[in-house]
Amino acid sequence: MADIIDGKRVAEDVVETVRKRTAELTAAGHRAPGLAVVIVGEDPASQVYVASKSKKAKECGFHSVQHTLPADTSEEQLLELIADLNADPAIHGILVQLPLPRHLDAGKVIQTIAPEKDVDGFHFINVGKLGTGETETAFVPCTPAGSMILIERVRGKDLSGLNAVVVGRSNIVGKPMANLLLAANCTVTIAHSRTADLPALCRTADILVAAVGRPEMVKGDWVNPGATVIDVGINRVPAPEKGEGKTRLVGDVDFKAASMNAGAITPVPGGVGPMTIALLMANTLVSASLAAGFPRPTF
Ligand code: GUN
Repeated sequence: MADIIDGKRVAEDVVETVRKRTAELTAAGHRAPGLAVVIVGEDPASQVYVASKSKKAKECGFHSVQHTLPADTSEEQLLELIADLNADPAIHGILVQLPLPRHLDAGKVIQTIAPEKDVDGFHFINVGKLGTGETETAFVPCTPAGSMILIERVRGKDLSGLNAVVVGRSNIVGKPMANLLLAANCTVTIAHSRTADLPALCRTADILVAAVGRPEMVKGDWVNPGATVIDVGINRVPAPEKGEGKTRLVGDVDFKAASMNAGAITPVPGGVGPMTIALLMANTLVSASLAAGFPRPTF
């Protein structure tokens, strides 16, 4: 049976470190880290995410601001707000919640955020730094950065000699995850919907990361004995056994079957999910520390 990786506990460790470093920063007379979260429109799932980000920021001792804009906000108005936040010395991190309403060009909006305040790690400058191994100065997207901390807790920081398979090639998770694993000396393969014989490829993995957004797609017998399995998926599926109309959350991995083979595995919920928000706090602290001339905190 696999060890269950407790993402909730590791996330609490990260947040505790953020809280301590924030207190040191402010005790030295510097500004508290400032996080601005921007949401456009009324997507209920986005509102839940944004509220939990703002709440966690306050818990960390941050200056936390939320801008809620109407769904019909023009691109010009949104870009103007981002320009103001870029210029505001009290703000160290800017997050524009995605998805944006269709009339707004998300790519253009993201590239307008100052790279040194891009705590999502989506700006081309940060993508390029990660891709060229400049991990000391890059902002790395929160979900893969959090997943990497979980992998390090199991395998240590140097992953030399290990084969990693990342299933999914998104810009937000799959590609940055592959770059992080490569920077840690893994031999990395990115698999996707057009990959031939995905089960056989997954069986070559010492580290298997599933980030496809398809409920329980990765089967138990795709998992190499002893592999570290990181399940990034959060999928809501019907759960008639809990009553009519009820649902439950599952990952991209068939957890029960995979835990028979894996050495360690993340559950859903309680695995990667809590790490994403913890790393947003960590990235905001990094930005504020660098602005204050402090060394970059590590996690
Ligand atoms: N929507 C869902 N996840 C994310 C995220 O990590 N960052 C942003 N900006 N929007 C999201």
